Amino acid sequence: MMSQKKYVLVTGGLGYIGSHAVAELINQNFTPVIIDNLSNSDQSTLKNLENLTKTKIFFFDQDIRNFDFIKLIFSKFDFYAVMHFAGLKSISESFIRKDEYNEINVLGTKNLVREMLENNVSRFIFSSSATVYGQPLKLPIDENEPLKSTNPYGQNKIDVENYLKDLSINNKNISTICLRYFNPVGAHKSGMIGENPLGKPNNIMPLICNVACGESELLYVYGDDYETDDGTGIRDYIHVTDLVLGHISALNYCDKFNGYLALNLGTGYGVSVKELITKFENVNHIQIPYVLTKRREGDVAKVFANPKMAKKILGWKAKLSLEDMVKDSWNWNYLRKLNT
Ligand code: UD1
Repeated sequence: MMSQKKYVLVTGGLGYIGSHAVAELINQNFTPVIIDNLSNSDQSTLKNLENLTKTKIFFFDQDIRNFDFIKLIFSKFDFYAVMHFAGLKSISESFIRKDEYNEINVLGTKNLVREMLENNVSRFIFSSSATVYGQPLKLPIDENEPLKSTNPYGQNKIDVENYLKDLSINNKNISTICLRYFNPVGAHKSGMIGENPLGKPNNIMPLICNVACGESELLYVYGDDYETDDGTGIRDYIHVTDLVLGHISALNYCDKFNGYLALNLGTGYGVSVKELITKFENVNHIQIPYVLTKRREGDVAKVFANPKMAKKILGWKAKLSLEDMVKDSWNWNYLRKLNT
């Protein structure tokens, strides 16, 4: 007997995390349907995804704010679930384009969820972020840490989480899981998809790769006077492959529960900026010249997850090492530069 297709609407499916989720969904026999407005992604990612998965993928160049289109797509597909990655994600930009951030990240999400409910689609996986913890009171950070934000982008994530929480009180059938990402890095093992930011990146791994390939001369290390062993900031870097496996586990868990759930997706290990640079240099045999400069405004000293709840509830745990992260990040960037 032909098995029924499980269509999953993936918003932002050509972005960094979204594209890896699409590859894994196909690998696990789901049928993704991508909508992406290409505001921070590139159509070449679609081609690479199709080559990688040997599958023709449904793709619509659309904005989640186009409500007529959202209505239309829900009328065309009988969705099994929605994975919502689309959104703006720069902290500094969120101060300058506050209204637009709110419109896309919060109102866009609400419209999407309303349409989902109209069509009796009950499974919703939301890309949240460890940014919802602001300056944490306690380390490692667990999910009971109070939510607070120091910037409009972080507030957008908190607003959506609160909306989903309220919604689940009145809608007993919905299963909504907010996944709070720590610092996603790395790329698909094949080297065919990876982080492909338009314009100058803000995050450390793409910046290290820019130095490694000679596109930038130096890396600026933001502060060496934090209260950490080597003075540089500590983060919980997680391989994007582990991250998307967490999404699949969450999707499968939707069958076993109704309501709202928020889970950390991190490794539980803190790594300093200097440790990250050294690991990159040793694994990839490339020197990364850097200069120490003052702290970046809004940065905190240490952020790392307590990932036990995701292990307990989803049976998910990050498995890939820091070595895998630096190796796969560089492999993707190296191949990309070769091809451009
Ligand atoms: C940033 C975002 C956060 C987002 C996360 C993952 C900010 C303030 N926060 O977090 O909302 O969820 O990315 O995408 O932008 N660093 C340098 N030199 C650089 C760049 C970074 O030393 O050129 C340091 C930072 O000070 C920090 C670490 O590297 O200690 C990681 O920085 P980054 O990759 O930007 O991530 P976060 O600041 O943790």
